[in-house]
Amino acid sequence: MRALKALAAHFIASLGLVLVASSAAAQPLSFVPADGPYDLAIAFRDAPANPGIRMLELHRAADKTVSGKLISDWYGNMTMDNIVVTPTLLTFDMRNINTPGVPIRHWTARVTAQGIALDGGIWDSKVALVGQQASGAEVAALTFHETTLPPLTTLASDGLAKTPPMGWSSWNKFAEKIDDTTIRAIADAMVATGLRDAGYRYVNIDDGWQGTRGPDGQIRPNAKFPDMKALADYVHARGLKLGLYSSPGPRTCAGYEGSYGHVQQDARTFAAWGVDYLKYDLCSGEWFYADADTVQRSYAEMGAALRATGRPIIYSLCEYGRFRVGSWGRSVGGHLWRTTGDITDDYATMARIGFEKNGDPNDAGPGGWNDPDMLEVGNGGMSEDAYRTHMTLWAMSAAPLMMGHDVRATSESARRLLENRGVIAIDQDARGVQGKALHKDGAAEIWLKPLATGAYAIALFNRGEAPATMALTPDTIGLPKIGALRDVWSGATLDPKVTRFAVPAHGVVLLEAFAIGSAHTRQRAAP
Ligand code: GLA
Repeated sequence: MRALKALAAHFIASLGLVLVASSAAAQPLSFVPADGPYDLAIAFRDAPANPGIRMLELHRAADKTVSGKLISDWYGNMTMDNIVVTPTLLTFDMRNINTPGVPIRHWTARVTAQGIALDGGIWDSKVALVGQQASGAEVAALTFHETTLPPLTTLASDGLAKTPPMGWSSWNKFAEKIDDTTIRAIADAMVATGLRDAGYRYVNIDDGWQGTRGPDGQIRPNAKFPDMKALADYVHARGLKLGLYSSPGPRTCAGYEGSYGHVQQDARTFAAWGVDYLKYDLCSGEWFYADADTVQRSYAEMGAALRATGRPIIYSLCEYGRFRVGSWGRSVGGHLWRTTGDITDDYATMARIGFEKNGDPNDAGPGGWNDPDMLEVGNGGMSEDAYRTHMTLWAMSAAPLMMGHDVRATSESARRLLENRGVIAIDQDARGVQGKALHKDGAAEIWLKPLATGAYAIALFNRGEAPATMALTPDTIGLPKIGALRDVWSGATLDPKVTRFAVPAHGVVLLEAFAIGSAHTRQRAAP
């Protein structure tokens, strides 16, 4: 058989014809085969999943204008610009994403003996494919049907998330290696460790639970999650809540099925399963929704769809802080919105996010919170002092506290960091003020967060690589005299006259202070 094929290939080559031996259909010998209108469709049958470029379509109208597009699993119809077509070479430009200084990429498609060789790239994906003429059935199957966004609607507060949501998410530790059994075990461990009772209530399944859609379009979990409703019941029975993850694009960031074209249907499915929290991650949607208006409308669409289910569902916007999300996150129904790209388990990334990319404090408050991403405490990449800084920064920022470690293997040190009631109380303070730095001097930063009690949380951060002694006097942070002082991490009462504090490298001292004259100071001062 192999010998026969080789013989056939030799015969074809010797005829000098540009045919593809593996395909029944003859290749177009030219991008412009004849005068007059024509349509060309090339299928790329072995395209890698990301960005999943499946087809090239070229159309010449009667007036000889040529238009074209690539069709991709991730980005749908990708329109060609500045098309130049010769019999053997097609060149075009295509907009690009996420590469600073490269808004456009130049593409080529050449007629070769093997078929049409396509070369180009989008963001971090280089594309080099060889395709053959698509059959009618392939064209029908690969055609991407666009949906239109509804006009922007705004939603009134639903009263959820009066304080920043707390819980756990699978992504930081497990990424796609998650399944029903692990999620159940994590829920059990949240109870057994006391973390549930410390306030961590949401058990969030991040990317990687999705399967395919049924014939009715309904999303189904993949084989690792045999019964989502039963899993929700299990989690609920332990006094916990269940979270899921999707995207407004056709593909999630890890390449799973997104909600594009199925927004209302997915919201109803999630509600029917008993889901209490949805993280909606822009991912491939960034190609479709690339400006403030469309990003906002795409998030509003899911916000309205969740609200229409009648089920209270926390809505977590994840579009990495684009287009000043904090200024419109609430009005699209969001209860928290990411202010940054992804955290990783190292001090430099955590500190850059926590100190510099934690959102505008004016946007945060009861019902809506800046989200500098999930916690890394317990994952082992930072020193204990750095993790203490991580927790303190998040608490001072009134940030959502989503643990990101393997709760089944919570170390003593991680438990102490995550369960400190004083620190959690600062994060969850009913006044909901996002604290900020009031004093910066080299590696030293002093942050202040006013609390509902009238007290102040004061954090002395040492961002330097050597231990430091930091000075705190009331006037550095614009306070009247300090009447009572407490070290929050240790719980120890301190002499309010102390003005110098030893702060470890990459570490922090977190204080609660009562200004003299406040009702609280009088209460505390009484014997
Ligand atoms: C993005 C998000 C992460 C995580 C992954 C999942 O990178 O920012 O938090 O959800 O997608 O693929």
